[in-house]
Amino acid sequence: MKLPCALSLVFLTSFVTSQDISSDTRVCQEFTVPVTVTSQVFITEYSAFQDSYDVVGFVNNIAGRDSNTTFAPLGGRKNVTASYTIGATICNPKGSGGKNKTLLLATPGLGYDRRYWDSEVDPANYSFVDFAISQGYSVFFYDRLGTGESSKVSGYNDPQAQIQLAILQQLTLLLRAGKYTGVLGVPGKLVHVGHSFGSFLSNALVATTPELSDAAILTGIAYGSASMTFIEAWGLRIATQIAPGRWNNRDNGYLTWVDAFGNAAVFFYPGSYDTEVLWYTEDVKQPLAAIELLTPSALRLRAVGFTRPVMIISGEFDFAVCDGDCRGFLASAKEEIFPNATDFQAVVHPGVGHAINFSYNATGAYGIMLEYLERHEL
Ligand SMILES: *[C@@H]1O[C@H](CO)[C@@H](O)[C@H](O)[C@H]1NC(C)=O
Ligand SMILES: *[C@@H]1O[C@H](CO)[C@@H](O)[C@H](O)[C@H]1NC(C)=O
Ligand SMILES: *[C@@H]1O[C@H](CO)[C@@H](O)[C@H](O)[C@H]1NC(C)=O
Ligand SMILES: *[C@@H]1O[C@H](CO)[C@@H](O)[C@H](O)[C@H]1NC(C)=O
Ligand SMILES: *[C@@H]1O[C@H](CO)[C@@H](O)[C@H](O)[C@H]1NC(C)=O
Ligand SMILES: *[C@@H]1O[C@H](CO)[C@@H](O)[C@H](O)[C@H]1NC(C)=O
Ligand SMILES: *[C@@H]1O[C@H](CO)[C@@H](O)[C@H](O)[C@H]1NC(C)=O
Repeated sequence: MKLPCALSLVFLTSFVTSQDISSDTRVCQEFTVPVTVTSQVFITEYSAFQDSYDVVGFVNNIAGRDSNTTFAPLGGRKNVTASYTIGATICNPKGSGGKNKTLLLATPGLGYDRRYWDSEVDPANYSFVDFAISQGYSVFFYDRLGTGESSKVSGYNDPQAQIQLAILQQLTLLLRAGKYTGVLGVPGKLVHVGHSFGSFLSNALVATTPELSDAAILTGIAYGSASMTFIEAWGLRIATQIAPGRWNNRDNGYLTWVDAFGNAAVFFYPGSYDTEVLWYTEDVKQPLAAIELLTPSALRLRAVGFTRPVMIISGEFDFAVCDGDCRGFLASAKEEIFPNATDFQAVVHPGVGHAINFSYNATGAYGIMLEYLERHEL
């Protein structure tokens, strides 16, 4: 098996922590998963942020049509091997092996941890995990490096897209071997599900290691020439200065949108969400790393070797990936990215913005995602 971001040894060590959380419909366990990955990363060449003036200047340098072409924060490449721990949850349907033993591996996008997939507010309307469980699927969802319960690392360097990809590849190998899958054991099939940056990571996984995935459902994604102005719209600030004491062990390389309205500007479309849910997302938000804004373009996305089912689904008015209008903006991905996929589908989910799962009709989106899997006997 050739792995461009070479995975080093997979350590099948025992679980560091494991906690059981059950309800009427599901049995969940939380883990801290040790991983060791080798990746080719960028040598970074930019100054630490002293204050949010520096952050605003950084954003001006990278976002917008006239981004500063002399600003070169990334230097040469080097190979690094590093060990981290990743916070993760597996949920299995109660009392059943589930649908053909299919496991969904879900990766959240920037600004969130694994709770993206499992809203505590009104879960019947918003939790992807609950919806998938009700259809018989098991779901494994995790905190990207630098978020939630995963290792806290420098926001200027470590959570590079290539490292996040190598971690996703290693988690996939562990799950396929039946580790951390709860009562499911060895999964029959494994489907990658993503949101936004998590979708780009899942896309890069099927592009570089197609043999690791049986299907991909990518939400909040597009490939056209949208501008990067959404980064300006967030109003990013140094996270620990916005909320002192809230996020421990994060350096100034971790940024967060300035307030709930910055969140709404990028993730939500007016009239398509409940403000109570918006404020909940503020409660569970996570800082994003500056390096996560700089490195997605290093991911190889064109997936000629992936011959399995692929669905991409984005909100009609997604500002982050479509500049506010996804109509007519998604279908070209078939030729450009997934030329050999089985039954490629590009879906414009009506009436909502980037945060499909936190908008009205979230379950409408989940419904067509899982019907698609069922149609392909997954
Ligand atoms: C562009 O980047 C260079 C190199 O970092 C910096 O010296 C310059 O001030 C930047 N220009 C603007 C307009 O931010
Ligand atoms: C990193 O490793 C890859 C794969 O082993 C190799 O092709 C590449 O030359 C290495 N790059 C550097 C900068 O050492
Ligand atoms: C839905 O997406 C939003 C924005 O990405 C995130 O805040 C939220 O946690 C997600 N909710 C669920 C239930 O997945
Ligand atoms: C995928 O499609 C390309 C054309 O877009 C073709 O050249 C290539 O052989 C195909 N690869 C596989 C694995 O089917
Ligand atoms: C939430 O779910 C309930 C039933 O479970 C439904 O009546 C209501 O319309 C849903 N609300 C939204 C905003 O989806
Ligand atoms: C809910 O979402 C589904 C899937 O995108 C869509 O077919 C349906 O029209 C949506 N319903 C409303 C009321 O927007
Ligand atoms: C399970 O897989 C078999 C064969 O691949 C298929 O016939 C069946 O419809 C699948 N079941 C479900 C519930 O998807």
